[in-house]
Amino acid sequence: MKARIVRPTPATLGRLARLLRSGGVVAVPTETVYGLAANALDAEACRKIFEIKGRPSDDPLIVHVPSLAAAEEVAVFSPQAREMAKAFWPGPLTLVLPKRPVVPAIVTSGLDSVAVRVPRHPAFRALLAKTQRPLAAPSANPFGYISPTTAQHVFDNLGAKISDILDGGPCRVGVESTIVDLRDPRKPRLLRPGWITARDIAKATGIRISVTKPRRPAQVAATATARLAKPSARGMVAPGMSTKHYSPRTPLCLVAKIRGRELRAHASEAGKTAWVYFSKPAMLPKQIPRDQVYWFSVDGNPAQAARALFKTLRALDGKGYARIVAEKAPPSPQTDSLNDRLRRAAAKS
Ligand code: TXA
Ligand code: MG
Repeated sequence: MKARIVRPTPATLGRLARLLRSGGVVAVPTETVYGLAANALDAEACRKIFEIKGRPSDDPLIVHVPSLAAAEEVAVFSPQAREMAKAFWPGPLTLVLPKRPVVPAIVTSGLDSVAVRVPRHPAFRALLAKTQRPLAAPSANPFGYISPTTAQHVFDNLGAKISDILDGGPCRVGVESTIVDLRDPRKPRLLRPGWITARDIAKATGIRISVTKPRRPAQVAATATARLAKPSARGMVAPGMSTKHYSPRTPLCLVAKIRGRELRAHASEAGKTAWVYFSKPAMLPKQIPRDQVYWFSVDGNPAQAARALFKTLRALDGKGYARIVAEKAPPSPQTDSLNDRLRRAAAKS
């Protein structure tokens, strides 16, 4: 198979909707990253997603729906959940809620909760409207690799495994949605940082989200044992949150700042190093050849850096570097998600 990259014309959307309704898998644009979509109510179609991505079955999928009303058909909403949905949907916020029986177990990895969101991207919304089914979609990358933010990225990794990639242009946000666990509405918890921050949520709704890490080392060990005993995510607090993720094949070394010490430390190593500044440096250090210097943003703007993050790592991965040395973003609520992805990309397996 060789994927076609297709534009969202009415005829194409009609064809893709028929494909999805008959159990097919299609790559779709969202405002965050590209997704690999299938009918969320069709267990066999969703099984194909896991196979194509090489994704372990204990890592549940996000269900995408066109509206809050449609979300209420797959998940049980509390007043708090409704309030958050009204404040941020359509948009890059995913809510983990008690699931309804229509959602097959494969989508939720056997959990009694489901992750649901209403996306903002117009082409994906048009496809949801034509398909008239909730669509399960993880990011459209091979498991563990960098998430795709263009149709070409999807083609590069999965072009041989799927028939169609709906091209909606480069993703406007660039990092995956914020995930909030609202199973217990009195104790909302941040499972994955994204462009929408806990502070944004508190401001808009008055709801305070706990951002403490859900898995302490003791729990991780217990979870790993439980997982070996039973191949389902039941009992896990935050499935699919393995430390290593979003990783280029080239080793990535994360530093607070590229300065003399960092430059000296890597100068003696074999092979070429790619140097990625968070924002464009005013002056380039003499020690580094110009063509080995990159940056995530021109002036440190976090939105611009978010859009460039995965694209930059992917581009560098194809250039034969021995290592990538990248700077973290200066800490702020807006850069939490960027530093989270960078830390995971740099983590050793
Ligand atoms: O922005 C996004 O969220 C993108 C686009 C395509 O919508 N999707 C995405 O999906 O990032 P994925 O599969 O790469 O990440 C989904 C994560 C899982 O790894 C897991 O951590 C969490 O969502 N998740 C899904 N269902 C869950 C559940 N029932 N309980 C806890 N976490 C869940
Ligand atoms: Mg992913």
